[in-house]
Amino acid sequence: MRIIEAIDYEHMSSLAARFLIDKISTNPELVLGLATGGTPRGTYKRLIEDHRMNGTSYKEITTYNLDEYVGFSPDNPNSYHTFMSENLFSELDIQKNNIHLPNGVALDLVEECKAYEERIEKTGGIDIQLLGMGSNGHIGFNEPGTSFEANTHLVELTQSTREANARFFNHIDDVPHEAITMGIATIMRSREILLLVSGETKRSALKELLSGDVRESFPASVLNRHPHVTIIADQKAL
Ligand code: PGA
Repeated sequence: MRIIEAIDYEHMSSLAARFLIDKISTNPELVLGLATGGTPRGTYKRLIEDHRMNGTSYKEITTYNLDEYVGFSPDNPNSYHTFMSENLFSELDIQKNNIHLPNGVALDLVEECKAYEERIEKTGGIDIQLLGMGSNGHIGFNEPGTSFEANTHLVELTQSTREANARFFNHIDDVPHEAITMGIATIMRSREILLLVSGETKRSALKELLSGDVRESFPASVLNRHPHVTIIADQKAL
């Protein structure tokens, strides 16, 4: 794993955006795995700025997001569809057909998980997966104890994850109990991974990850087995 030290959140976001822009410039048909949450927001802001100023094009880029809440339709203000649209997609020249997130209101959620996995495969797999990490080590919504063999699947969110995400809702009771997430196996099939870590609340999780101890009770630890991981972490997290 390559570790890049950033001064603070803004610097981490600039470095991450630069990293992605370089890859997009080299391969305009890149298949990008994307994440929601507070961590990648600054990166997305910079991708938009760069698109406006330098014209980096996303016309041939395909994206797959890590996860979506169950029960939230794409136009729900708290859905990850909405988050991505507001924080990134609506400001880029990306084609709607090339944007993929799991459908949290699919009639058959198990079938939706299977279909999502197949869509990724059909596209040729993910070139670069952007990741944040929960303070409990989750990646996507893969909570501690998730099998490393899991593909896209249905998960029950832990109380700690619901509490962490409550800041995006009016009340914790509004935070869904279930989600669809790419599995650890899905994430590990990405050809390259960029993990962003910011802030003191992630410090012990990052330390745990860097200890090199790989175990299912700490999902992010699996990244130690991936051949091509870059971590950009700010000083508060390091
Ligand atoms: P955050 O979430 O970026 O909002 O801290 C990361 C995660 O839970 O994966």
